[in-house]
Formats: sequence, C-alpha cells, structure tokens
Amino acid sequence: MHKLVVISGDGIGREVVPVAVEVLEKLLPNLKTVKAEAGWDCFQRHGAAVPEATLQALRDCGAGLFGAVSSPSQRVNGYRSAILQMRQALQLDVNLRPVRSWPVVSAKQGVDLIILRENCEGLYSGREHLEADGVAIAERVITRDACKALALRTLEVAKARNARRITLVHKANILPLTCGLFRDTCLEVLEGEGWAAQLDERLVDLAALQLVQQPEAFDLIVTTNLFGDILSDLACHWSGGLALAPSLNWGQGIALAEPVHGSAPDITGSGRANPLAAILSLALLLRYRWLDEDNAKRLEQAVESFLQQEGRADFGVDTTRVVREGVLAAL
Ligand code: NAD
Ligand code: IPM
Ligand code: MN
Repeated sequence: MHKLVVISGDGIGREVVPVAVEVLEKLLPNLKTVKAEAGWDCFQRHGAAVPEATLQALRDCGAGLFGAVSSPSQRVNGYRSAILQMRQALQLDVNLRPVRSWPVVSAKQGVDLIILRENCEGLYSGREHLEADGVAIAERVITRDACKALALRTLEVAKARNARRITLVHKANILPLTCGLFRDTCLEVLEGEGWAAQLDERLVDLAALQLVQQPEAFDLIVTTNLFGDILSDLACHWSGGLALAPSLNWGQGIALAEPVHGSAPDITGSGRANPLAAILSLALLLRYRWLDEDNAKRLEQAVESFLQQEGRADFGVDTTRVVREGVLAAL
C-alpha cells in the first residue's frame, strides 16, 4: 500500500494540493495519506518552518507531496525556506524537472527535456555572512559526493528514456574549482558507464540562450543548484509556464513531489490557481519513486486529453474547479 505525506504549505499550495491528492486517490484507491505542516504560516504559529514531526512522517512514508511556501525576501531571524530545509534534512539530493510540450497550452510543440538539478548544496549552502559593512559573502559548496549522486541519477534516467544527449551545464571557465569539480565528476561517472558518445557540455549563459532559441535540441540537462533553479523557470515557458511545471525532489528511498511554482500570493483565493503542476508532480512520484510507469502514463494521458478537450489555455476565475473536474473525468 502506498503512503503519501501531504504538505499543503502556504498560499495556493492549499488550493492545488487537495485537488492533486483527490486525483491520485482515484488512481490508487488504497492510498494512505498523512497530513503534515511546513511553511511560513507554520513558522509563525509554531516557531519552526519544518517541525520534526513532518520530517519524521516523510522518513516513515518515503513519499510526499509539497504545495508551496512563502518566504519573505528580507531576513527573518530563525526562518529558512521550508523546502530548502526538507531537501537538506532528508538528503533529497536531486531535483528532477521535466519540460515537455502539451496540447493547446504549450508555446511550442516537440519539446521534451529533463533538467536534473543538484538539490542540496551550491549557493544554497546557507553559508552567507557580512564580512564588513558593505561587503556580503556567500559560499558556494560543491562536493564530489553530491555530484556523483547526481550523475548516478542521471544514468538511471538516461537509461530509462534511452537518452540521445546529456548536456552538462556549468560555468567552469570562471569557477574552475567548484564548477570544475562538478564537471569532472559527472564526466567521469557518465563516461565510465559508456555514455561518452551522448555527452555534451555548455556554459550556463549560452545554455540559457539556446533554451530560448531551440529547446527541442535538449534532452537531459545536468546542472548545479542555482543554475538549475533559474533554467527550470526559463525552460518551463515551453510547456505552458509555471502552471505546467512539475518536479521531484529525489533521494535514496524517499521523494517529495513539488510543483515548481511558489505560493502565488497575487492569486491566492481567486480560484485561478492551476493544479496541473501539482498533479504532474505526482506522475513523477509514480514513475520514479513507486516505479509505477502505467499509472504515471495514465495520469499524464488524462492531463493531455483534458487539455485537448478543453481547447483553451486560460481557464479564468474557475481554473481550479475546471481542471479538477476535467482531469477526474478524463481518468
Ligand atoms: P510564484 O510561482 O508564486 O508566482 C509567479 C507568478 O506565476 C504569479 O503571477 C502567480 O500568480 C503565477 N502562478 C504560479 N503558480 C501558478 C499556478 N499554479 N496557477 C496559476 N498561476 C500561477 O513566484 P513568486 O511570486 O516569485 O513567489 C511568491 C512566493 O512563493 C515567495 O514567497 C517565494 O519565496 C515563494 N516561492 C516558493 C516556492 C516553493 O515553495 N517551492 C517556489 C517559488 C517561490
Ligand atoms: C524552487 C523554488 C525554491 C528554490 C525556493 C522556494 C527556495 O524556487 O523550488 O524552484 O529556489 O529552489
Ligand atoms: Mn525556483
């Protein structure tokens, strides 16, 4: 029996997560769900953005769905983004972010790529300090172990989808130690496993341009944490924007599905929150964590036929309801 920890979080997380769970329950009638808290609202009530009980529930169940949390841009003592804390505390070392074309809503057909993002270190190390008045320093941490874990996951995905190309994205020309370690470790693992012919590399600035010019030329993109964060928002333009951008935080024996979007305070409570990214994140959980390709496909096909049937890209103030009813009906 599958167990799922359900963490709605803040803002539209509370609107999209219940819909996604309902859809998954239709697919897996025996699903057991466990509710848990995390986020800004949780921090204000309990003084912790991620209570230990939430981490423990995730460890026990090995799978979760996380909606979104709000993080203020100014520093708040004791607060750190809940999703970052969960990634690091649970060693969810890879973030898998597919971008593919969908009927009607996508800006371009023929795009089908996956960004594999290192998920726990880089400029997300949490090591930032004021050196002196007017001088702030952030430390970018890259370790061989994390790069190796990323490369091994890349191998797994590359084999499963018979990848035609694996593009390492870095900036080793100006960061020879950190990006150099990333590049060399990934190359070593992937070449060692016989993927030399498919391997390719790009500096991140050019990769950004080419993702705009010719997204269909990419297959697997492997990169460091912050580069992957930025490139995944850029690339999801081709699938239909943030409303169609799913992701999976992926560790050993544990994974947390997460729509790429945030808590969207501008539309919270308006009915405009689109649950497709959350629904599609559950397809990733089915495919990569529960190794249930049949149900992953079923879910994606339901989304596809819903979009085809609807024939429009904007569902207006009824978005949450229209998508919920349409996807449930398509299933
Ligand atoms: P955002 O993703 O919340 O919103 C960006 C824009 O996209 C907004 O106009 C929003 O209305 C729209 N949008 C996003 N998701 C949508 C959906 N499912 N349906 C329809 N429209 C959608 O990004 P932001 O505005 O930069 O950040 C808002 C807050 O969210 C911040 O506090 C930020 O820290 C947080 N955030 C959290 C996560 C996360 O928890 N994983 C990710 C990104 C941002
Ligand atoms: C994402 C988000 C997070 C990130 C934030 C909320 C910490 O933007 O999941 O892409 O930067 O990784
Ligand atoms: Mn992001």
